[in-house]
Amino acid sequence: MNCIDFTNGKTQVFGIIGNPVEKSFSPILQNTIARALGMNSVYVPFKVEKGAVATAVKGGKELGIKGFNVTVPHKIEVMEALCDIDPVAERIGSVNTLKLTENGYKGYNTDIIGLKKCFEERNIDISGKTVVLAGAGGAANSAAMLAGEEKAAKLVILNRTKEKAEKLAERVRAYYSIETEVLGYDEIMSIENPEIFVQTTSVGMGNDVDGTPVKNAEFFNNVKIVVDIIYTPWETKLMKDASAHGAVAVNGFDMLFYQGLASFEIWNDIKVDKELAVKLKNQLTDFYCGR
Ligand code: ATR
Repeated sequence: MNCIDFTNGKTQVFGIIGNPVEKSFSPILQNTIARALGMNSVYVPFKVEKGAVATAVKGGKELGIKGFNVTVPHKIEVMEALCDIDPVAERIGSVNTLKLTENGYKGYNTDIIGLKKCFEERNIDISGKTVVLAGAGGAANSAAMLAGEEKAAKLVILNRTKEKAEKLAERVRAYYSIETEVLGYDEIMSIENPEIFVQTTSVGMGNDVDGTPVKNAEFFNNVKIVVDIIYTPWETKLMKDASAHGAVAVNGFDMLFYQGLASFEIWNDIKVDKELAVKLKNQLTDFYCGR
């Protein structure tokens, strides 16, 4: 569809705030969903410098921009510019979705919803299970809180820098009654029933095609599902190892799609039909892989 077929004086504007944003897939993702649902809206990238996020958000309100996604490096800084924050986003400590309200923007975190959908789509229930997390940086927070939200029995955090993992474990325990353990990657074989594994480090990303934080692939013998938040390359070394040892391995594209869909649903107060969601995800997957 040509943009003159739907843009007019009533077109609603959405966007993504980040730096850099030039390579963001979100404009393609959001505009594809909006076209499929016949929305009169556009979604555009906004490059915003560190320290200027509050000014940008204030300007967004004055311009009537209905909603934003927020990406690296602004997911924490943006929290100071909001009139309200969803409790789950508050617990995670970062916001990736802003919705315009009467008083300003309300912040949400849909990264956690994106990850949750990866499991739901494969009928995997986290409750009562052991969740193993590789990494303790920004991306790990949502996964750690999901383990708490979904009542996992235990959360094991693996990280090169143990202090960072201890901090994250403490944060999770402050909100949820979940057993936590911090281990180094060399202690991985001691984990009992590590059914769910979430990879949140940058190891294996881009040209690092032989990189994996899990050196002993035998570990995956007892793992049911692996979600690697990386989607370039499409299949990481860790995913290949996991599949070869019988685990279901999912890359980060599903999470990317479903966090975007969740933002779209929040902005428009709608629930997108499951079948249509899968159709759109497949369409965007083909587009992403083919370009
Ligand atoms: P993000 O916000 O994308 O999670 P981040 O906050 O910089 O990025 O976190 C990166 C994560 O990848 C951290 O857990 C980091 O481990 P450290 O806390 O020890 O730095 C992990 N990471 C990055 N490079 C790594 C490597 N070569 N080996 C193991 N872990 C690595």
